[in-house]
Amino acid sequence: DLSAQIANMKVNNLFLNASGIHCQTEAELDDLMHEPVSGAMVTKSMTPQSRFGNPLPRYYRLANGSINSMGLPNEGFDYYMDYLKNHEQIKPVIVSVAGRSKEEDLEMLHTLQDDDRYQGLTELNLSCPNVIGEPQMAYDFPSANDLLKEVFSFYKKPLGIKLPPYFDLVHFDQIAEVLNQYPLSHVNTINSIGNGLWIDVNSETVVLKPKGGFGGVGGAMVLPTALANVRGLRQRLNPSIKIIGTGGVTNGRDAFAHILCGAEMVSIGTQLYEEGLGTFERVTRELTDIMEAKGYQSLADFRGKLKVI
Ligand code: DHB
Repeated sequence: DLSAQIANMKVNNLFLNASGIHCQTEAELDDLMHEPVSGAMVTKSMTPQSRFGNPLPRYYRLANGSINSMGLPNEGFDYYMDYLKNHEQIKPVIVSVAGRSKEEDLEMLHTLQDDDRYQGLTELNLSCPNVIGEPQMAYDFPSANDLLKEVFSFYKKPLGIKLPPYFDLVHFDQIAEVLNQYPLSHVNTINSIGNGLWIDVNSETVVLKPKGGFGGVGGAMVLPTALANVRGLRQRLNPSIKIIGTGGVTNGRDAFAHILCGAEMVSIGTQLYEEGLGTFERVTRELTDIMEAKGYQSLADFRGKLKVI
């Protein structure tokens, strides 16, 4: 039994794509919708208007992960609303919104709030590292608090947020103190580790075009940071705020570790991009095998039950 629940969203499998992976166009969303194993899916983070994003090359595979500077390429808010209206939802779709300003966030959330046909889960992305000149909101605690205060003054549907990784336990305390004031459905942690840099030494050149080569790091190499953020936030957030664990999952053991740290659901980014949609079937089988070997019947049997020495 790999079922999980966040707010009104019940799933029979805890896995979903990480936002940005295979979820920009209608064809990609359909692929995820009809993929037989994953329990839910999330859209590419949307802005009010469509965006091409940053110049190419903007994704580069590394030996143990990836670096990207996509710059929020997306088809625009209305495109995704139309998608939801015109396609049967075989599995729940989380709507990821990432305005480039507080005003853009509020505009999209007002539309979602006022749309009676939309009752799904929304995720407010406070952590895009790649839009030129835009800071990551979730690293500015007072600004994040101001935004959430305004959002929850009118927003009554299930709403979670996507966070960047934190690297100091004091920052875990500070963000948790902000988030615990609000009725969030969930926190999704981590986004990519912002503003890494990779270099091709032969040519002495950066590998990404945007931002002089700086970009968000993901994949296997970020697993320790992801586990620390899932664990550190699970220890600090109200129990009503569920956690979607994201970051560094390439196999069933990695997913098991996220759940031990407290993840309700687990999303897969770099590995899904590199391996394709078959990732869900493989990782699910690997996780099931570990659970069977340990005699666990449900995720609740071990979720959050990490042992310390
Ligand atoms: C992009 C990257 C992110 O990590 C994110 O949260 C949103 C957008 C991007 O570059 O498109």
